[in-house]
Amino acid sequence: EKGLYAHYMLKEIDEQPAVIRKVISKYRDDQGGIRIDPELRERVMMADRIYVIGCGTSYHAGLIGKQLIENIANIPVESHIASEFLYNRPILSANPLFIFISQSGETADSRGVLVAIKQMGYPAVTITNVPGSTLSREADYTLLTHAGPEIAVASTKAYTAQIAVLALLAFSSVSENGRAQWHGVDPFHELSIAANAMEILINKKEMMEEVVWKYLTSSRNCFFIGRGVDYYVALEGALKLKEISYIQAEGFAGGELKHGTIALIEEGTPAIALITQPHIRANVRSNVQEIMARGAHVCMITMEGSEESDDQIVLPAVHELLTPLVSVIPVQLISYYAAKYRGCDIDKPRNLAKSVTVE
Ligand code: M6R
Repeated sequence: EKGLYAHYMLKEIDEQPAVIRKVISKYRDDQGGIRIDPELRERVMMADRIYVIGCGTSYHAGLIGKQLIENIANIPVESHIASEFLYNRPILSANPLFIFISQSGETADSRGVLVAIKQMGYPAVTITNVPGSTLSREADYTLLTHAGPEIAVASTKAYTAQIAVLALLAFSSVSENGRAQWHGVDPFHELSIAANAMEILINKKEMMEEVVWKYLTSSRNCFFIGRGVDYYVALEGALKLKEISYIQAEGFAGGELKHGTIALIEEGTPAIALITQPHIRANVRSNVQEIMARGAHVCMITMEGSEESDDQIVLPAVHELLTPLVSVIPVQLISYYAAKYRGCDIDKPRNLAKSVTVE
């Protein structure tokens, strides 16, 4: 029930810190280790390449998963859109493992890939919110996201729960060689810091509402820019905004601006820049300068410790690999308030269904 909330989406946004804490409690064993089937762990570590498959927001979580697994477990990962993979299959490695990400566990495009790769005899794990769902039953292993029912069509808490589970899977698959690098990093501790940071932002909703007032009341379009994981969150921000507010939105990699998109920037064009990654911070700031010089109104979302005086939203600091859990909160809320301002049907946007069971 949505209780006092005007919309399920807002309720589900607010639930995210609690969902991360639930994931922690479900996956932490008594010794503080990660509770993941040792056989699955073995499969992950034996794979020469991991293919992560999903659609929409779950595909975007898969992109973050690539970053997490490659950086933490040092295993090559490809993230694919299910419907593209099915009809335009890449050359597979000798010993692949497939990870399916699906809130509902019923998405037809993802299931199409699962059926195809099972016929080829490859192992599959499904990360889903729904125990007993089709993708869960048909895969060899299931990792539950424990986010509770997600009612709003726009996915929010499922996305952050998927990322938390992907991080734990990555940490549970660190090889002996990799241990030294991660020695001393407690993923549960880092996740709980992220949950607290999410909560701080959720308690400052007026900041995101202000961004909408300042940048998005009359615009028909909006750009999200970032590099690395910030680019992946930019894609998610753009999807969220277009899905519920019908503002045309595009997420793009900062470096790509000069290769075409900058032609669209004119006086007053709104843009949201995500700047959380230390090694590419300066590059994104210079991209922001380029579009501002052409009239863009840019809202900067940055990280504590590296903020500058005119940054609108400063995220509480969290582990570098977990920033998407935190940076996605303002973009979810900005989308929500933009849709609310426009009087859109937030929980049931036009032309969309919660679960897409046809190809
Ligand atoms: O249930 P799934 O996670 O497989 O659904 C995938 C997409 O249909 C879903 O994420 C969709 O993109 C959302 N409406 C986005 O908010």
